[in-house]
Amino acid sequence: MNPVATRLEEVRSEISALAESSPTAHDLMRAMVKLLHDKMLKYNWVGFYLLEPGAQPPVLVLGAFEGAMTPHTRIFLNQGICGAAASSGQTVVVDDVAKDPRYLACSLETKSEIVVPVFVHGKVVGELDIDSHFAAAFTAEHQEFVQHCATLVGKKLEATGA
Ligand code: SME
Repeated sequence: MNPVATRLEEVRSEISALAESSPTAHDLMRAMVKLLHDKMLKYNWVGFYLLEPGAQPPVLVLGAFEGAMTPHTRIFLNQGICGAAASSGQTVVVDDVAKDPRYLACSLETKSEIVVPVFVHGKVVGELDIDSHFAAAFTAEHQEFVQHCATLVGKKLEATGA
């Protein structure tokens, strides 16, 4: 296995253990952002945004995160990479944020970003957002891994409600 794949396998095991031991989805999200931020050197900001229940128009609200405070604590679905991922229900990977006009700047150091929707019973309820200080940090194997993390949170939300 290549070194990245080995690393991802190790952290995936730790994430699985967290998913089993966390009593609620919110506990899991808090523990997950910390683990990803601590263990993955290129994951320099890691956070969840959750759709505010009942809000019209829909708005994403910042939840658990690790990294510098962001000015974007509430994001409408027509704004940013975050809005694009939540409104389309698709993972969005941006290799060079400077070239994407949708990008809302969180830190001047950010070069690339991935945003993966979190689904509960087939509906988007939020997303996992990761920023990197390195260009094109989120290769296909990272994308698969981050999608796995988001899936675990969706399953926990389905199982525990919160
Ligand atoms: N860059 C995001 C905003 C959130 S910050 O990265 C934490 C976006 O373009 O939606």
